[in-house]
Amino acid sequence: MQHVLDLLDWDKLDLLKLLKEAAKLKKAHLRGKNEPLLAGRVLGLIFEKPSLRTRVSFQAAVAQLGGGSVFLNGAEAALGKRESIGDFARTISQYVDAVVLRTFQHQTVEEFARFAAIPVINGLSDYYHPCQVLGDLLTMQENFGALEGKRIAFIGDGNNVARSLAIVCGKLKMPFVLASPRGFGFDRPFQDLYRRLVNGVLNETTDAPKAVRDADVIYTDVWTSMGQEDQASTRRKHFDGFQVNLQLLKQAPKEALVMHCLPAHRGDEITDEVLDGDRCIAFPQAGNRMHAQKALLARLMQPK
Ligand code: CP
Ligand code: NVA
Repeated sequence: MQHVLDLLDWDKLDLLKLLKEAAKLKKAHLRGKNEPLLAGRVLGLIFEKPSLRTRVSFQAAVAQLGGGSVFLNGAEAALGKRESIGDFARTISQYVDAVVLRTFQHQTVEEFARFAAIPVINGLSDYYHPCQVLGDLLTMQENFGALEGKRIAFIGDGNNVARSLAIVCGKLKMPFVLASPRGFGFDRPFQDLYRRLVNGVLNETTDAPKAVRDADVIYTDVWTSMGQEDQASTRRKHFDGFQVNLQLLKQAPKEALVMHCLPAHRGDEITDEVLDGDRCIAFPQAGNRMHAQKALLARLMQPK
């Protein structure tokens, strides 16, 4: 079964093939020529946390390709509460052709995938956000052409988005640096896993201006992820000095672009001037979620 949990098992060719397909599907969509590749297929979405981009872009993607979708929120699914995760996964596998799961714990996605007879796609867990970074790569490719050698500086927490971005950057030979306050970098198990499975260069620093000095992309995300809301005020103190603002942009090359997975906490990790400025591509980046995910669904859900 082909699950998409963390992209650790994808190689460079898998990523480039997906991007090529995504670009093709985007072009077809913009010409008003979506092919009904998923006619009669159904996507299940089970979300324990809120979502705009992931949920709507997946549901729109499957609808545009001629398929349907069913959405269950955390309370309705009650994963592991109403029945075991395994029993849930075995049952829903008989109704739908793939599932997108957004969970608090990454172990929930892994356990679900162990029992599912259909592809399981991680639509964000506390540890990874693979669908996000597929759309991000498409956006970078549109802006830069070839990706190899492009330098990404992530300013913020060593969180789910940062881990997934570091993984795909490693696979595509794109130097990646994480700039975060001491104590908020990548956790040790991830550093070890990265060394073993990705073989890319994982740079970390506490110096944000230095991190952006030779960057092609300055990427940021919220300081407090979903599920960490009780830490918001302490995190705000720690992350003082890690805001992506005009002053930080002055330290970067003139052509460097700014990306953000959104939703943004304006005034915390990024200022209005930067998010609404010419160098920021966060909104086309959000749009590309749908095109990248279409390519993913076409790969996973088309009848064999
Ligand atoms: N970037 C992202 O995943 O957004 P949502 O939380 O709105 O899905
Ligand atoms: N790191 C953020 C990403 C949201 C898309 C979170 O997990 O809340």
